[in-house]
Amino acid sequence: MSSTFFIPAVNIMGIDCLEEAMAAIAGYGLRKALIVTDAGLAKAGIAERIAEMLAMRDIDSAIFDGAKPNPSIANVEQGLALLQRERCDCVISLGGGSPHDCAKGIALCATNGGHIRDYEGVDQSAKPQLPLIAINTTAGTASEMTRFCIITDEARHVKMAIVDRNVTPLLSVNDPALMVGMPKGLTAATGMDALTHAIEAYVSTAATPITDACAIKAIELISANLRQAVADGSDLKARENMAYAQFLAGMAFNNASLGYVHAMAHQLGGFYDLPHGVCNAVLLPHVQRFNASVSAARLRDVAKAMGVEVGAMNAEQGSAAALAAIENLSRAIDIPAGLAVLGAKEADIPTLASNALKDACGLTNPRVASQGEIEAIFKAAF
Ligand SMILES: [Fe+2]
Repeated sequence: MSSTFFIPAVNIMGIDCLEEAMAAIAGYGLRKALIVTDAGLAKAGIAERIAEMLAMRDIDSAIFDGAKPNPSIANVEQGLALLQRERCDCVISLGGGSPHDCAKGIALCATNGGHIRDYEGVDQSAKPQLPLIAINTTAGTASEMTRFCIITDEARHVKMAIVDRNVTPLLSVNDPALMVGMPKGLTAATGMDALTHAIEAYVSTAATPITDACAIKAIELISANLRQAVADGSDLKARENMAYAQFLAGMAFNNASLGYVHAMAHQLGGFYDLPHGVCNAVLLPHVQRFNASVSAARLRDVAKAMGVEVGAMNAEQGSAAALAAIENLSRAIDIPAGLAVLGAKEADIPTLASNALKDACGLTNPRVASQGEIEAIFKAAF
């Protein structure tokens, strides 16, 4: 069986690498950038700082700060209109997953035309997007380096999964110095998102030896550093390790894809506008419990990467230990215990489950579920 490995051509990372990234950006010969960010980063003056750094290298820019958490079709349309008005020839996303995903939608429609809805699914676009440079401030969705773009269709209450080689950024930038400002809750949620990427990729039906290596290293780093990154956000070493971990997890799932945790979490996000990482964290042990009948040996590896002494355990015991380790980590960083606390309603489960089964992320889950089984997993997570 063949496999294709997608990753941005250039990836710059490490403490204070932003200057180096600016020199790389200057080398692309770009004229004017649309900086896509969120209101918080704009208010904190970080978008303006990026604009100034670009100006010093003779690159003009316009700032679009309308990327909401769970970016919507309207956000993409607003950004695209500004890009066209300002005649930008590239896009620079600044933030976490939301600005990156919004920027991908803008850059893809800028060259391909049509509507962002046209690109839902796998590789629906014909042309490369506008050059996209992604400067990451969370750890993380890994959207700064993936071919995944998730946009909420507010009319249908669903998150559209756009999985398209053409939305891969040209350059990704991970400077942990930009991550120290992340509040505890966001650090915890984005860190659990990264753990979910690594575990779903590791048990995926599309896993390869390359994605396995990335996933296991990511799980080790997250287990060893996420508690500390949450406890003391100014710990640059923990932040840097989490930046590498989320990038490795991105390398894994960008190529091995995901599973039902993401397919189901997208529906919760689309329905109730909940944070992606928290939805994943709550669902992760429940989906892996469902997967354990076919993935026990792999989940035992997960337990080992999370620091469990698995030498005397068989696969079944190892998979149980993995679930316990995931739940312990979630508890330690104050992830809510269940979906009820998040405001989800049991009456919505049938709709959530049928939409989850249509999500492209579920296609590589190791065990195929029926509508009833997805409903049962949702119920268990309440
Ligand atoms: Fe995710």
